[in-house]
Amino acid sequence: MLSGIAATGKLHVGNYVGAMRTWATLQDSYDNYFFIADLHALTIPEAVRPDALRQRTREIPALYIASGIDPARSTIFLQSHVPAHAVLAWIFDCLTPVGWLARMTQYKSKSQSSSPSAGLFTYPCLQASDILLYQPRFVPVGEDQRQHIEITRDIAERFNAMFGELFTIPDPWIPTDGARIMGLDDPTEKMSKSTAEVRSGHAIGLLDPLETIRKSILRAVTDSRTAVDREDLSPAVNNLLTLYQVLSDSTRDQTLERFHGKGYGVLKRELADVASEVIGSIQGRFKEITADPAYIDGVLADGARRAAAVADVTLDRAKRLIGLT
Ligand code: TYM
Repeated sequence: MLSGIAATGKLHVGNYVGAMRTWATLQDSYDNYFFIADLHALTIPEAVRPDALRQRTREIPALYIASGIDPARSTIFLQSHVPAHAVLAWIFDCLTPVGWLARMTQYKSKSQSSSPSAGLFTYPCLQASDILLYQPRFVPVGEDQRQHIEITRDIAERFNAMFGELFTIPDPWIPTDGARIMGLDDPTEKMSKSTAEVRSGHAIGLLDPLETIRKSILRAVTDSRTAVDREDLSPAVNNLLTLYQVLSDSTRDQTLERFHGKGYGVLKRELADVASEVIGSIQGRFKEITADPAYIDGVLADGARRAAAVADVTLDRAKRLIGLT
């Protein structure tokens, strides 16, 4: 199993319930690779702040561990520490038709800015390389990454067909609930790291002060009614119910039963309590982990060695097949 998070901003509860939480639950059943996509953080150069990037590349692995990912059972590493990612990405750049990349919804939405970089356009080839180097069966991600896993499968099949069978075709592993958490301030928009940078009250940051988290939840947008009606849920209320469900480890039915007929204020207060409990304990562990700065450096150095040992073998096989040796 393999997955990663781009080092583009502060991690939020969507990243936790859509991705990290699944990784932690599944880690005992697989051989796991979880990385921090720091090269992916460069695709919008105007947004790159070197000091912040340096800080995130240590903060994110500490959050992985604080969320229950065990470095003894899962390899945790930085993408830029394993050069094979960039080399295979170039091979994929040369193999991937421009038309496939132009169809990517993420490129279409992010390239609205003045002058999109070439890296933003070829980003899916780097992501395919991140994945295929480790030959995973599953890639646990939120719903927004489905298209990226699909193009990864297409690139793998194209390589296998043109140069010989090498890559395992991976499947996405998308949770049934919590795969698409929406913004608290606008239930029509996905909760996102970049929006959280410019709009307070949009996201629940995993490292936000608990008081801020409580306030954002109590101020979350709902709808013109006042009480939960399980037969007729607006997107905003549905989002709050989903968050409650996943953070409290309840089923959908238990959650609907609990809140049916109750006022939105009750739902928000109970969600604020459970969010504070879960995120508070992640923050407690984060503090312990980061108390010794050398600890994360050690985890990343060990992770890079373990990851490179696997990635280099796959890259070598790809180079031989394509005639680069
Ligand atoms: P990124 O950093 O945007 O998101 C990291 C993970 O969090 C999930 N996620 C969400 N889940 C539920 N609700 C949300 N609002 C929400 N927002 C984000 C994402 O689906 C993802 O699983 N391109 C990737 C990083 C990447 C990667 C990879 C992932 C690079 N290489 C290889 C998997 C495998 C990205 O930008 O995710």
